[in-house]
Amino acid sequence: MEKCTSKKKGIFSTSVLGNEQIGECFYRLSLAIEGKAVEAFSTTKPGQFAEFELSNASLPSVEQIPNELADKALRQIILRRPFSFSDIEIAGNKGKLEVLYCVLGPATLRMKTLAAGDKISLIGPLGNGFSIEREKSLAILVAGGMGVPPLLHLAKELSKSNTKTIAFVGARSCSQLPCSEIKNVQTLISTDDGSIGFKGFVTAMLKEWLIKEKPDATKTIIYTCGPEIMMAGVAKIAAEFNIACQVSLERVMACGTGLCQGCAVKCIDKKTQEVGYKLCCKDGPVFWANEVIF
Ligand code: FES
Repeated sequence: MEKCTSKKKGIFSTSVLGNEQIGECFYRLSLAIEGKAVEAFSTTKPGQFAEFELSNASLPSVEQIPNELADKALRQIILRRPFSFSDIEIAGNKGKLEVLYCVLGPATLRMKTLAAGDKISLIGPLGNGFSIEREKSLAILVAGGMGVPPLLHLAKELSKSNTKTIAFVGARSCSQLPCSEIKNVQTLISTDDGSIGFKGFVTAMLKEWLIKEKPDATKTIIYTCGPEIMMAGVAKIAAEFNIACQVSLERVMACGTGLCQGCAVKCIDKKTQEVGYKLCCKDGPVFWANEVIF
């Protein structure tokens, strides 16, 4: 997998354009960028990310804090938080970054209160991003829950090439799906409880489809993002069908730039068979599935 591609990363101030709830669990944050940030983000690849500074964002009122976060809500947000992008639009010297998120902890709880005109600092673009393999004619996207955002961005990039794309999107239930389809892409949905689409795990749906459709493995690639256990399952299926596969991993990323060494990923060197560690923020977050030891 390629190393970080952008030499223009930096600390940028962005301005909130909107922050809306979509569905039951998800929010879409849109940020305006200009100047050097536009230059930096104009070549950002799907899967690259930025570290967001959320310590100054306000807490919602007490009645809007979910019970399960009541204890954690008052914690200070000391570290920046990594987010990938669901879309990036650049037009001339202005740009828009879009992030999809769920409220899962004190930082995203504060993120929810951001309103148009608020400023957020971010460091980015960071990491390597997915690599689009031009010789592949079929791209299979496999997303679980909050793994959807970078794959939305990737689907948009793939639509500019001749690669046919199909998406498999899984969630626990209908209300936990971030989207019911990926724009311009055939999208197959699975839910664990069967409330919509295939009943069962997205990996089971993928395997059934591969058995039935028998795509040419040499011309196919799988891109996946979601819970690690799901991606381990996708990696196993990809190996079984001899299909190349890229996984976008998640780790706690304190610095995002390779300094703190806190985001290790256990990997195997395919040539030497040596086992070692890579850094999710710098060598990833996207890895070839067959180099990761899950
Ligand atoms: Fe610090 Fe990766 S987040 S080294």
